[in-house]
Amino acid sequence: MWTDGVASIGYTHAFYPEMAPGHLAFALLLKGFVPPLAVGRAFHYGELGCGQGVTTNLLAACHSASTFEAVDLLPEHMEGAQALAAACGNGNAAFHRESFADFARRGGPDFDVIALHGVWSWVPDEDRAVLADIARRRLKPGGALYVSYNCLPGWAADMPVRRLLLERVAAGEGSLPERIAAALAFLDRLALEGGYFARVPAAAALLDSLRGKSAAYVAHEFLNRNWAPFYHADVAAQLAGAGLSFAASATLLDHLDSWRLGEDAAALVAQADAAGRETLRDTLAYTRFRRDVFLRDPVRLTAAERGRALRALRFGLTVPRDAVPHSVTTPAGDRLLEPALFEPLADALATGAPSLDNLAQGRAFDAVVEALTVLVGLGVAAPSLGPCPGAAAFNAAVLQANREAPDLCQLASPLLGTGLVVDLLDRLFLLAEHEGSDPAALAWSVLSGRGQRLRGLSSEAENLDELCRRYDGFRRHRRPHLAVLGIA
Ligand SMILES: C[S@@+](CC[C@H](N)C(=O)[O-])C[C@H]1O[C@@H](n2cnc3c(N)ncnc32)[C@H](O)[C@@H]1O
Repeated sequence: MWTDGVASIGYTHAFYPEMAPGHLAFALLLKGFVPPLAVGRAFHYGELGCGQGVTTNLLAACHSASTFEAVDLLPEHMEGAQALAAACGNGNAAFHRESFADFARRGGPDFDVIALHGVWSWVPDEDRAVLADIARRRLKPGGALYVSYNCLPGWAADMPVRRLLLERVAAGEGSLPERIAAALAFLDRLALEGGYFARVPAAAALLDSLRGKSAAYVAHEFLNRNWAPFYHADVAAQLAGAGLSFAASATLLDHLDSWRLGEDAAALVAQADAAGRETLRDTLAYTRFRRDVFLRDPVRLTAAERGRALRALRFGLTVPRDAVPHSVTTPAGDRLLEPALFEPLADALATGAPSLDNLAQGRAFDAVVEALTVLVGLGVAAPSLGPCPGAAAFNAAVLQANREAPDLCQLASPLLGTGLVVDLLDRLFLLAEHEGSDPAALAWSVLSGRGQRLRGLSSEAENLDELCRRYDGFRRHRRPHLAVLGIA
């Protein structure tokens, strides 16, 4: 069976906000644990299987008093990661181009946090054992392991789709992206005949969702030699052998069972033991991807200590104020975000990064914590451990790189210490503002240099007119928000 060709396609350039120190601290505090990350404290952070190194570079720029180590085997990934580190001036980040097994033989300071995103389900058993062993030996007492993985039962219906995809790509001809496109087209054709796809709607939905995805995503998500979804309880059992215990989900909506699943389902979940509870929630919420935080030697906070630590966190919006939703769809149906609570809270968050202490003045503390959990869980707000001026160096490097390649699409907020996706045109407008050049002209020179133009517009004059109009929209709508975040 074809397998190794996946190495010929680099992984997508992405930043994962759940790996940000403020986010991890918030998730652990919600469950009443002492986080290894706190306001004003430097930390040592390791990322295993860092891919293009965007997350480590963004966090290292933001947290310049802390130190970072990142490991990945693929030379192409590490060259890009090291080049970005050099462009940002990230002297506090070391990128090791080596296998997990080689890294396990290295010495060095122990970690406050070890993070692996998109790795656990995509490596063989031997590597999972090495990863668990690194956590066992290198995580400080009280240290956190962030590990994400594809989980069961959410993936059960899709496993046959992945199998067919793998077989068709293996038997195909042409470059890897061509074989992937041909395999997906074949599966579409197959689905028209009914059978499995007609009987299992989740499989048809997966096929639908793959249509717009890049070849890089499909290759790394499905065509890896190793690909295994896990029950949470089995991951927890393996990591228990490394001395770690499950503390919290970094997917914050997982903290709100009655809110998201409804009272009856929440009661069923609550009755189960710790490991069983996660499986029941994953079943009821049809979870496909988990982001778990485990702790070595966890220490519990008293209610008063937890309250104080939560009050010290700061929060801000990651989207313009008018993009904060008024309702959300949950597994239990549509839910209104109670306007009396959420509207003034969103107004306050839009002004900067108020502390939770500030946000809770005159309001019920638990209700504010729950509302912030919802907003962060929806990705429209982020917690912060404090200002991160170094973020500006990351943004300058990304904007310069965007002249040549659009892949880096996240910018870092000096206010929040986390990253957010900014559209390519908006990034080019920001680059022009940094340089004091004409925004529409710079955007056009980059687009036309790549043989691109705005959809439906052919002449240079038409493109420039439309780019001027879009810059005006950016200035009035999105720029004020980016200015509050310290990005513009
Ligand atoms: C699916 S990618 C995820 C990358 C990144 N964490 C992300 O989510 O964007 C898995 C990464 O693990 C790396 N990897 C897999 N096996 C490895 C090993 N044995 N040693 C070091 N890196 C490995 C791959 O090169 C790849 O970059």
